[in-house]
Order: sequence, then structure tokens, then C-alpha cells
Amino acid sequence: MRIFNKLLPASVHVAETRSELDEGPRYRPEEIYVANAVESRQQEFRTVRICARQALAKLGHGGHVLVPDEHRAPVWPRGVVGSMTHCEGLRAAAVASSDQWSGIGIDAEPHLALPPGTVDLLLLPAEQEAVDRLSTVEPGIAWDRLIFSAKESVFKTWFPMARRWLDFLECEITVGQRPGAFTARVLQSGTLHQGTDLSAVSGQWTAEDRVGHGLLATAIAVRQHFART
Ligand SMILES: CC(C)(COP(=O)(O)OP(=O)(O)OC[C@H]1O[C@@H](n2cnc3c(N)ncnc32)[C@H](O)[C@@H]1OP(=O)(O)O)[C@@H](O)C(=O)NCCC(=O)NCCS
Repeated sequence: MRIFNKLLPASVHVAETRSELDEGPRYRPEEIYVANAVESRQQEFRTVRICARQALAKLGHGGHVLVPDEHRAPVWPRGVVGSMTHCEGLRAAAVASSDQWSGIGIDAEPHLALPPGTVDLLLLPAEQEAVDRLSTVEPGIAWDRLIFSAKESVFKTWFPMARRWLDFLECEITVGQRPGAFTARVLQSGTLHQGTDLSAVSGQWTAEDRVGHGLLATAIAVRQHFART
């Protein structure tokens, strides 16, 4: 079942797969970029780029080579914004026209609690309290992992615009106001980037069955400040 389509507006084009793909040409700069990586990394890197090119084709872009920049951020064709994610069981890419959207961030995670000992490094005290509260009401969701994923989506949206690091504890996620929605408050000053205020952004989340080893996914699409709604 496709997971990201329902999290993003129709004008954001998504391609995703639950198995490795190896179709179409291989691009030498991409092959060189991962030449020294382990085989599994090479496969996820290739597969997610096949997804990205499928999504880019829907915007009329063909054969774009996707070598990350020096900060690992994707380099899209001019006029395109987008994001990629891969985790065990899923590779996905989402792209959109920068006339309509100023930033996209997507993230998928295994639907499991965060590893022991990591919560204090990743979640603010208020977020940890929310996890405790939400877990009492709905224990079927790994709320800590969900908040972590939302932060990853925030970072993937934020970095290409801000070109600045954002620590896990510099962003506060709030979930639960509406089913499937979250908001992110960035706790850094100077959050106006390319005319778009990133101090508060909203996103969507979904979760597959935790017991059945499903996935969690989060997605953010920030509307271009000059685009008509
Ligand atoms: C960059 C990061 C978000 C990527 O996470 P990951 O564990 O590799 O997870 P995913 O597989 O979901 O995402 C990988 C993709 O993220 C994208 N990505 C990596 N760095 C990026 C950046 N600086 N900006 C935007 N996207 C980036 C790439 O498309 C990458 O795919 P690729 O390796 O095939 O090129 C994560 O590793 C990281 O460094 N996080 C720390 C910063 C952070 O998340 N802060 C939270 C602020 S609230």
C-alpha cells in the first residue's frame, strides 16, 4: 500500500517502492558517489533515485542526475523542490514545482519505539511528556518514533532553504490536535528563508500496524509564500 500519497497534496508528486529497483540507466556520478558504500547502501541509493526520477518525470524532467551536495542534501533541477527517504521496507521520493511549494520533507521509519537511551537526545521534555500522555490514550502508536520522524521531515524541509544545521532539540513537535496532523515550532532565531517563515510548519503523519512490523511516515509541504492558495 502506498504511504506518502495520502500525506501530501496532489500537486506534490510521489514515487515509492517496497522493493529494490534496478531499471533504467545507471548514472556514473551517482555510481561514483556510492562506490565505496556497502551493497545495501548502494541499492537504497539507486532505488530511491529511480523513484525520484519517476516523480520528476511527472513534472516533465527526464534523466536528472541526483548526486547529493556537500551536506548530503539532494540537488533537484531548477524550479523543483523535493525530498527522499529510505528505511527498511520503503524507498520514497516527493517532488513539486517551486512555483507552488517552497520546501518538502518526507521521512519513513520502522514502526518501533526509539532505541533505549536515545530519547533524551532527540526529544524535548515537553515532547516526552506528550509521548507518555498519548501512549496512555493510544498505545498502538510508537509516539516517540513518530516525533523523531517528524523532526527528520522538518530537517529535510529546513536545510535546503536555510542551509543551516538544526538540532533535534531546536524543534518542538506537537501531535494530536487533529488525527494525522502535527506542527513543528523551530526554536532558532532567523527563520525567514527565501521569503518563507519557517518558525512554524505543519505536516501529516500516518502509521501502519505496529505489531505487524509496519512503517511510520511523516511529510511536510511548505507552500510558496507568493503562491495563491
Ligand atoms: C539528514 C538526515 C535527516 C537523513 O536521515 P537518514 O537517517 O539518512 O534518513 P532517510 O533515509 O530518511 O533520508 C536520507 C535522505 O535524506 C536526504 N538528506 C540528507 N541530508 C540532507 C540535508 N542536509 N537536507 C535535506 N535532505 C537531506 C537525502 O535525500 C538522503 O538520501 P540519500 O542519502 O540517498 O541521498 C539525518 O541523517 C540527519 O543528519 N539528521 C540530523 C539533523 C536532524 O534531523 N535534525 C532534526 C531537526 S528537528
